[in-house]
Amino acid sequence: MTHARITGTGSYLPEEVITNKDLEAFCDTTDEWIRKRTGIEQRHKAASGQGTSDLALHAAQDALADAGMSPEEVELLIVCTVTPDQMFPASANLLQGKLGAVNAASFDINAACSGFMTGLSTADAFIRAGRYKKILLIGAEIQSSRMTWKNRDTAILFGDGAGAVVIEAQETDSGVLTTHLGSDGKNYEILHLPRGGSRDYYTKENFDDDAYTIYMKGPELFKRAVIKFAEVAQEALDATGLTMDDIALFVPHQANARIIEAAGERMGIAPEKVMVNIQHTGNTTAASIPIALHEAKEAGRIKEGDYVMLASFGAGLTWGASIIKW
Ligand code: COA
Repeated sequence: MTHARITGTGSYLPEEVITNKDLEAFCDTTDEWIRKRTGIEQRHKAASGQGTSDLALHAAQDALADAGMSPEEVELLIVCTVTPDQMFPASANLLQGKLGAVNAASFDINAACSGFMTGLSTADAFIRAGRYKKILLIGAEIQSSRMTWKNRDTAILFGDGAGAVVIEAQETDSGVLTTHLGSDGKNYEILHLPRGGSRDYYTKENFDDDAYTIYMKGPELFKRAVIKFAEVAQEALDATGLTMDDIALFVPHQANARIIEAAGERMGIAPEKVMVNIQHTGNTTAASIPIALHEAKEAGRIKEGDYVMLASFGAGLTWGASIIKW
């Protein structure tokens, strides 16, 4: 049977690091509070002039090298991001040019923290339909371009980075076994960036610090995330006939270490089977799952034949889960 297999992974974190201690100078918070409430110790920040497609380029080259694939072989290139280089064209179009993926169609997916899960589901559907055989899927974000460091609600949480996977059609029983997505647009105001789009665009007169502000009802999001992570994970298990005991590694969206811990408990998965790297990355939105997946693979935490579960929850609201036989 034709399955979508991940044959290469890569990631990129910009050089500049902002520690919690650094943040103490910009906003009313402490290193101790951030560690205790989120598990985050530091995050990376893109250099001035760097765009999302520049971060994506490094991760993409890393993943292609890992898969032993040339840019010309890529048939479809998807970038998942809510912080594109510019309003249009898509960051995927810009990346396609920079990478030299001359034979690839390209588009962006905007599904916030569930961007990568949405991208994986899309790539899997194209492969199952027989439309494409070689797909490059990237999650990349420069959240630092969308917030002010003085706003402690968001400055403590988000980070910049990119993660990439190469997905190939193979005749095998391994690969993406199932993908599940959901959304709740009625509750979009729990986490959103209202300004800068078509409804309330920037002008000389209305431009101020608020123009950058991400609005987030953190505790509301927290509760819903824990419940939805567990629900969508169970959906994926039910679709495959597997149980949580069969899962060798759970790679969740790195929203907050406490959300991951509470969701893991609700799902009934042992803490040692959960990948957590938020300490050094912060929450990198659509980039978090592919970065964590790459780091887990590099650390030898995934072996051939393992069942790996991925899951996300975030702005939209959106959520998703997938089970992959590695
Ligand atoms: N630094 C210091 N103190 C802070 C603070 C900060 N950055 N933010 C809030 N506080 C204070 C509050 O004022 C409150 O003080 P009080 O008890 O004296 O009233 C206390 O800390 C608790 O605030 P609360 O908002 O209930 O904290 P929390 O434990 O819910 O943590 C988040 C806040 C944002 C870290 C947490 O809600 C969260 O991670 N939510 C999900 C966010 C998320 O995942 N977003 C991305 C989408 S996936």
